[in-house]
Amino acid sequence: MTTKVGLSGFSLSVLSAALLTAGHSWAAEAASRHDSPDRRAEAVVSAMTLDEKIALVHTPFGYPIGDSPKPEGAIGSAAYAPGVPRLGIPALQESDASLGVTNPYDIRPGDNATALPSSMMLAATFDPKLARKGGEMVGTEAHAKGINVMLAGGVNLTREPRNGRNFEYLGEDPLLAGQMAGNSIAGIQSRHVVSTIKHYALNAQETGRVMVSSVINRSAARESDLLAFELAIEKGQPGSVMTGYNRINGQYASQNAFLINQVLKGDWRYKGWVMSDWGATHSTKKAALAGLDQQSGENLDPKVFFGEPLKRAVQKGSVPQERLDDMVKRILRSLFAVGAVDNPAKAASIDYDAHAQVAKAVAEQGIVLLKNANNQLPLSSKAKRIVVIGSHADVGVLSGGGSSQVTPLGSVKVPSPYPDNAFIANMVYHPSSPLKAIQAEAPKAQVIFDSGEDPQQAAKLAQGADAVIVFAQQWTAESVDVKDLSLPDNQDALIEAVAKANPKTTVVLETGGPVKMPWLGKVSAVVEAWYSGSKGGEAIASVLFGRVNPSGRLPITFPQDETQLPRPNMRDPATTTSNPGEKRKGLFSENYNIEGADVGYKWYEREGKKPLFPFGYGLSYTTFSYSNLSAELRGSKLVLGMDVTNRGQLKGIDTPQFYIGSSSKHNGFTSRLVGWDRIELKPGKTKRVTVTVDPRLVARFDEKVNAWHIKAGNYRVSAGANAMERPLKAQVRLNEKYLAP
Ligand code: BGC
Repeated sequence: MTTKVGLSGFSLSVLSAALLTAGHSWAAEAASRHDSPDRRAEAVVSAMTLDEKIALVHTPFGYPIGDSPKPEGAIGSAAYAPGVPRLGIPALQESDASLGVTNPYDIRPGDNATALPSSMMLAATFDPKLARKGGEMVGTEAHAKGINVMLAGGVNLTREPRNGRNFEYLGEDPLLAGQMAGNSIAGIQSRHVVSTIKHYALNAQETGRVMVSSVINRSAARESDLLAFELAIEKGQPGSVMTGYNRINGQYASQNAFLINQVLKGDWRYKGWVMSDWGATHSTKKAALAGLDQQSGENLDPKVFFGEPLKRAVQKGSVPQERLDDMVKRILRSLFAVGAVDNPAKAASIDYDAHAQVAKAVAEQGIVLLKNANNQLPLSSKAKRIVVIGSHADVGVLSGGGSSQVTPLGSVKVPSPYPDNAFIANMVYHPSSPLKAIQAEAPKAQVIFDSGEDPQQAAKLAQGADAVIVFAQQWTAESVDVKDLSLPDNQDALIEAVAKANPKTTVVLETGGPVKMPWLGKVSAVVEAWYSGSKGGEAIASVLFGRVNPSGRLPITFPQDETQLPRPNMRDPATTTSNPGEKRKGLFSENYNIEGADVGYKWYEREGKKPLFPFGYGLSYTTFSYSNLSAELRGSKLVLGMDVTNRGQLKGIDTPQFYIGSSSKHNGFTSRLVGWDRIELKPGKTKRVTVTVDPRLVARFDEKVNAWHIKAGNYRVSAGANAMERPLKAQVRLNEKYLAP
C-alpha cells in the first residue's frame, strides 16, 4: 500500500525516506505526535520492509519453551515481537493478565507484583470506578516492569459454573461484565500499556477448549456474550482482541470471519489488532483473510503460519499486500493510541504499599455476605476464644491457577491435584494470612488454628468457642474445569461436624465461582470471599468484625445443584484435548442454544427454577428498602428511578438494580439487568437513584436485517435488591426502533 497522508500534501514515502537516510527515528520525530494514531501508524507502515512487517505479526513465547530459547530482547513474559527499532517502534513485551503482572516460572527472578482479587470478585463490587482503579494499578506495574501489552480483559460470560477460568471473568451478565471489563481496560491503557480483551468469543469451558465448538445462533450470541464484548470495547477501546481456543459454530475463533471481519471489524468498526490465543492459529491464508492480525504463542502451533508462509502468500498474492499492511497498521495504531511509543515502558520503582490498598479495596467491596442468621456477624472484638479452621488460613488466601497466576512476594505454593502439569502444578496462596488479621481485629482473644484435616479434631476444638470460622476452598485453574460444584476434599463433612459442635459457625468460602452448600441450614453465617488477592486476609477480617460493612453482590447465580444447569452433565475431559500443543482428539460441540441469550439468572427466570442464591444477591449489616419506581422517556432516552432507604442502624452501601422484560407479544425476553447504582446511606436516609437504559438492552438482535430491533409495546420494568427480589413494578411503552449493529 502506498500510503499518502496529509502533511501539507507531501508524499509520505518521500518524507520517510529522507528522514530515514538522515538517521532519524521515524515514529518519534516524523508524523508528529499531534497526528492521529492512524496517520502515525500509516506513516510507519509505509517505511517498513516486508520482513519487518512479517516480524511483527507473529510472536513466540517470551521465555524458553521446549527447544526454543528466550528470544533475544525479550524481558521474559508470555510473548515477544521485536518491534522496529530503526523506526522508533518498541518491541512488544506481552504479559498476562487482568489480576496483575505475572512472572511465569519466575523467569524474571524475584520480580513480584501486586495481586488483585479475582475478576469475579471485582465484578461482585458492581463498581466500575474500582475496576478502573484496579486497571490503573496493573498498568502502572506493567509499565514499570517494561511490559507494554497486557493480556487482560477476560470477559467471557459464565455459561458453565464449573468452568475453571470463571475467576478470570466477570460473571454472567453482559452489562455488568462489559462495564467492568471496559473500565479495567481503560485503566490499564491510561498507563501507556495496551490491554487486550479476551477470549473472543463463547470460550465458556476449559474441558476440550481446543476441540469444542460453541454452537449458538447468531442473534442469541449478539444479545449475550458478544454484547459483553461490544460494551467493553466501546468503554475501554482495547488495543487488541484475543480470540479464543474454541470453535464457534464449527469454525475456529482465530479464523472465524463472522466474528472477526463481520462483527468486530465490520459492525463495531474495531480499529485495533486481533491476536490469536497461544497456539491457537490454524492456517495462514484462511486466518489472514478472516481477519486475524497476529499469531501468538507460535511455539505451540504446528507451523509459524504468519512467518515465512505468510510472507510467501503475500509475495504470491494469495494474501493481498493490503491485508498484511492492515495487520501491521492495526498493531502500530494501538501502540500509538495508548502512548506506548511516546512513553515507552521502562524499569521504574513501584509503590507496592499503595497498590496493596487498591487490591484491598476491591476485596473489601467484593466480599458477599450470603447468610447471617441471628446476627452472627459482625463478630465482637471482645470475643475470648476464636477457632479458625481450614484452607491454610494461617498462611494466606487462595488464588486461581494458570496463565493469570500472580505471585506477590512471599506467596506460598502447595502441590495441586495436577503435579505433572507444570502449568498448574501448584496452588498458590497469596501472603495475606486471615488468621493473623483476625488476631489483629481481636487482640485480646485466644485465636486458635486447626488445619481441618481431621473433622472430628476440628469439631472438638470448636466446642464452646465464642466464634468459629471455617475457611472452605475450591481451587480452580485454567485448562481444567471442576468436575462438579461440591467443595472438594471432604470439606462438606468438616463444616457439618464443626457446625454440629458449635452453632456459632461462620463459613468463609474461597472459590472461583458457585459451590453447593448442603450444610447451609446448619451454619450461622456464610461469607463468599472468592480469591481475594494481596490483601485478602485483612479484607476478610475487616468484614467479619464489621469495620467494613459488606456490600458485594453476586455477579453469578449460585445453583442449588448441577441439575438446574442448562447442561447438567459435562463431557469427560479424558475423551478430548484441553491444551494447545498436544495431540488433538475428540472434536465435539456444546449446545449453547439451550439457554441461548438467557445466560444465568435469565435461564432461571425462564425455566421457573429457584437457585440457591440469585444473581445480584448480597446482604449487609444494615437493611435497605425500595420505593417510588419511575420509568419515563426523556426524548429518546429511557430513564428509570427509585428511592432507596437505609432501614437499619448502620451506615452501609447498597446496589439497587433495575430490570426490564417483555411479553412474548413484544419480542419476548426475560428480565435483563438494565442498570444499577451503588450508594452509601446513613441510617434512616433515603436517596433517589436513576439510570439511563442503553437501548440495546431492550432490543432483540434481528439477524435478517443485521440490526437491533425494539418492537413497539409495553415493557415490564422492575427494581429491587437482586434478580429475584424486585418488589417494585412498572410498565413503559416503547416505540418501534432499529439500531445500528
Ligand atoms: C491463555 C491466555 C493467555 C495466554 C498467554 C493462554 O493459555 O488462554 O489467556 O493470555 O495463554 O499466557
